[in-house]
Amino acid sequence: MPQNIAWDAAGVLRCLDLLAACTDQEGEITRLFLTPAHAKAVALVRGWMQEAGLHTKLDPSGTLVGTRHVPDAPSLLIGSHIDTVRGAGRYDGCLGVILGIALAARLRDTPLRYGLEIRAFGDEEGVRFPITLTGAHATAGNFDPAWLSAADSDGITLRQALENFGLDVQALVEGACTADRVFAYLEIHIEQGPVLEAANAPLGVVTAINGAKRFSVTLTGQAGHAGTVPMAARQDALVAASEMVLAVRRVALAHPGVVATVGRLSVFPGATNVIPGACTFTIDLRAPEDGLRNTAEHKIFAALEAAAQTHGVRLESACLHEAPATACDARLQAHLAKSLSQNGFLPIRLPSGAGHDAMAVASLCPVGMLFVRCAGGISHHADESVTEADVAAALDVMTRALQTLNPADFGTP
Ligand code: GLV
Ligand code: MN
Ligand code: MN
Repeated sequence: MPQNIAWDAAGVLRCLDLLAACTDQEGEITRLFLTPAHAKAVALVRGWMQEAGLHTKLDPSGTLVGTRHVPDAPSLLIGSHIDTVRGAGRYDGCLGVILGIALAARLRDTPLRYGLEIRAFGDEEGVRFPITLTGAHATAGNFDPAWLSAADSDGITLRQALENFGLDVQALVEGACTADRVFAYLEIHIEQGPVLEAANAPLGVVTAINGAKRFSVTLTGQAGHAGTVPMAARQDALVAASEMVLAVRRVALAHPGVVATVGRLSVFPGATNVIPGACTFTIDLRAPEDGLRNTAEHKIFAALEAAAQTHGVRLESACLHEAPATACDARLQAHLAKSLSQNGFLPIRLPSGAGHDAMAVASLCPVGMLFVRCAGGISHHADESVTEADVAAALDVMTRALQTLNPADFGTP
């Protein structure tokens, strides 16, 4: 455990390098919810929170919470996630958590009109289980007990995984994670897109987060001998899925602003000489407006039905996740923009195409986000990168923003 961290940009980057070594897969960064790598990350981040003077607890949803309590005052939440996609970079999510801790450390001796809660959520990416934003939903008091039976690819349910991690499932169901007396939530995150780099700006204020929906699709055809069944007589589930993947792309291209991705596809039984009898795949669909996303969804499923009929396969689908487009609070946007200007930066505003924990926290309190430029807009990839100068800029802007933030402006008693 490193001691006496200098809570400057170099110190933040050093923590992120150490966190990157917490992985479930040697040679890459893959840190899924409630795995041994997640446990290692929790231990590291807990040590840094304590070093920053915060009191820590792991809540029953697997969120690590570092608190600075101010008597009789409401709290500001600062958070992001420490889980990753498979083969991830080291900044998505983790940058916001470590910057939150660095801010708490820097402001340790500064009187504030509010308490601080730094939250390191364990499941933003939704990679291990077919659910997502679990910790942030629990923070907002919206944990759905039905999620406990969601299973990972080894058949381990969320309930089992939480218990194996030493967490109290009953307390989770009873709402023990809900944050009380919170007046606002702030999240710092890499942009994961090219806008700030193109504008030559290190930082930007997020206006809104695109709405998202995730689906699983199951196709059932007829497996058979690859050498004997005539082409015209086949009910090949993979051929049907292939047409569907292209239809998903076609619909998204026809609706500017919509993005749609088939990111996972499995073929059964999966043998060279057997016609695929079944196929499952996922669809991730996003748009800046919910109406636009709904239109695209209807067109995609109409195209899927048509392809299923053509190829004689049965189509079943389920919605795994739905998050409406989320506006960032106008007061928090203005506050962050003012801090940017006062620190000599252009107060650029931009929407977020990626999903964030802020979407789920938004039902609890006003949310605001600050984006940090990343090279080439590359993210969900090992080449994800930020510069030390941009991290320093984020620290300075956020330090100013926190020093001048007043809970009374948010109508909190
Ligand atoms: C999270 O990174 C998402 O936008 O899927
Ligand atoms: Mn993220
Ligand atoms: Mn991500």
